[in-house]
Amino acid sequence: MLQADPNLPSLPATAASQPTIRMASLGDLDRLTHVLTASFYSGDGWRQWVYPFVRLGIYEDLKQRLKAQSPRYVCLAALPLPPAHQPLDDAIAGTAEASLRQPWPWQGDRHVYISNLAVEAAYRRQGIARRLLQSCEQVALQWCVHELRLHVMEDNYAARELYRKFGFSTVQAEDSPASWLGLQARRLLLHKQLSPLRPPQ
Ligand SMILES: CC(C)(COP(=O)(O)OP(=O)(O)OC[C@H]1O[C@@H](n2cnc3c(N)ncnc32)[C@H](O)[C@@H]1OP(=O)(O)O)[C@@H](O)C(=O)NCCC(=O)NCCS
Repeated sequence: MLQADPNLPSLPATAASQPTIRMASLGDLDRLTHVLTASFYSGDGWRQWVYPFVRLGIYEDLKQRLKAQSPRYVCLAALPLPPAHQPLDDAIAGTAEASLRQPWPWQGDRHVYISNLAVEAAYRRQGIARRLLQSCEQVALQWCVHELRLHVMEDNYAARELYRKFGFSTVQAEDSPASWLGLQARRLLLHKQLSPLRPPQ
């Protein structure tokens, strides 16, 4: 298992039939940017003109986060399952970011906030997002945090089904001027409560 930084939480070993999840590093920046941009933005029609700028924005933001090397932040990379008898190349199939949030007491408890969960289209429905979420759980437990939170758009049915199956429930629906006007779906805040890590028997 590759680790970008020995101070980062460790991830459990992966069964051979499951995609490998490892900590991402600056060397992955291009491939992670590709996965994120292609997953969240369409480059069709007139959007192809905006796409390079969106990509650059994602690249720069992610670079800042990776360079900061915060002990409260991890970026995960999922490697594709290799075809039988073939070694893995350096492709990245999916990614997710997890950060430790310590809100003010009146804003709720410490939690791990998951963002930018994305799986490249060619690798979807292979359980990669589920594995990334499991790894976020492991990271949270190693930080001694027992709640995961994330946002999802109300009309993102694939992601909502993934989170529902993974045990997330809705905390609140957040309106915005665009959602009031019917121009955009509402954002849903979801959470999942985790059981503490059991010591090995
Ligand atoms: C949502 C997304 C991350 C799912 O990734 P994935 O690797 O295909 O998901 P998994 O294979 O782990 O799916 C696990 C379960 O989630 C549900 N699910 C995933 N994609 C689904 C879809 N398109 N339609 C319905 N259910 C879906 C299913 O229950 C699935 O289990 P099953 O395959 O046994 O039926 C991926 O479609 C994606 O990157 N979308 C674009 C970016 C995005 O919306 N990210 C989420 C932001 S909140």
